[in-house]
Amino acid sequence: MDTAYLAEWANLLLRWLHLITGMAWIGASFYFMGLDQSLKPAKDGNPLIRGEQWAVHGGGFYHKQKFIAGPEKLPEKLHWSKWEAYWTWMSGFSLFVLMYWGQASTYLIDPDVADLAPWEAIAISIALLVAAWAVYDVICRTPWGDDGMAMAIIGILGLALTAYVTTRIFSGRGAYLQVGAMIGTIMAANVLMVIMPGQRKMVAAVANGTAIDPKWGGMGKQRSIHNNYTTLPVIFLMISPHYPMFWQHEKAWLLLVAMALAGALVRQFFNLRHQGIQVYDFWLAGGVVVVLVAVFIAPPHVAPPARGEAPTFAEVQTIMSQRCMECHQPRPTNPAFAAPPKGVVLHTPSHIQRQAQAWVTQVRSEAMPPNNATGLTAEERGRLLAWVAAGARRD
Ligand code: HEC
Repeated sequence: MDTAYLAEWANLLLRWLHLITGMAWIGASFYFMGLDQSLKPAKDGNPLIRGEQWAVHGGGFYHKQKFIAGPEKLPEKLHWSKWEAYWTWMSGFSLFVLMYWGQASTYLIDPDVADLAPWEAIAISIALLVAAWAVYDVICRTPWGDDGMAMAIIGILGLALTAYVTTRIFSGRGAYLQVGAMIGTIMAANVLMVIMPGQRKMVAAVANGTAIDPKWGGMGKQRSIHNNYTTLPVIFLMISPHYPMFWQHEKAWLLLVAMALAGALVRQFFNLRHQGIQVYDFWLAGGVVVVLVAVFIAPPHVAPPARGEAPTFAEVQTIMSQRCMECHQPRPTNPAFAAPPKGVVLHTPSHIQRQAQAWVTQVRSEAMPPNNATGLTAEERGRLLAWVAAGARRD
């Protein structure tokens, strides 16, 4: 079996796993943040209980209680949540290695941005992943770490700087995924390096009957709050490869920050809502940011060409056969592809016409050809767009 085919399977299985474990992890994060924020003082006045919640779900009633200083005796069976986080990171990282490092020239490098050799791009990518965690972790341990507002501001500024730098090193798409991988790495490292060790100390203290230092749980709580606010931004970055309108834009870095901000604002709305505070400002602010982005990146309207000036279909076919078909035909001649990418073929008149709406977004945003591998000229791009604007007719 050829390697491109096996790689496709590896890609599918890793992506599948990544989505499943990611849902389990983020689901737990949403659940526990919501639970924490909706806890009410315990009715029976037990001083060990910080708060409790009654819920009805799945055909039964649940009574949850939070013991901030631990129960008097360690329960026989204690449920931990950690493998969701570890597997999300391991599957995501493997997928990133397979695609963005394994095929760095296709996905990570854009010679017009920086003409890097694959090994250089990969080395920078690794260094940035490590640096992201190191810098973040140090900042969390300063007095700012305890100040939610300060951390929000530092987070946005840090993200802006990272987005700006990465979009000057990698392809737009590569930069978005790199930033997503950096945030994802911070989130998983928070679980591995801070939350888990703190919880292990708490459990040991309960088992030995010694006092629990509130610092252990406090640090974990701080990190899990950060993880909660980064979920929506990270998911946006993970689905961004489908939307070249962001990362192909010349202000790609700013769009990244704006969309991440919108995600965090929406999360803030939900977190307040769980506390019983219904403030729609945050939800609205997130919406306003998204609308502003949409207006800002809206493509200029291509006026349909005057009668007789519309490009002919023959012209479109010629452009496609020169600029697209080496990849987009049943047996691509480009050696990098065993099969047409995304199953998109443009080798027959009918395929070109039927898929006009699909390829016009790719051509307009300059996502295709990737890194303009086949040298599509601005004039040719304009002709393709004009043909679609004129009604994509074959006559
Ligand atoms: C060097 C190879 C190559 C060339 C040349 C190329 N493409 Fe692509 N195309 C790709 C790859 C790789 C993908 C899949 C990108 C991804 O993984 O999201 C793709 C995806 C697409 C998609 C599907 C996008 C989606 O996410 O659904 C369309 C439509 C498309 N190309 C159109 C074109 C058009 C039109 C041209 C010519 C102007 C072109 N391509 C030239 C490699 C190429």
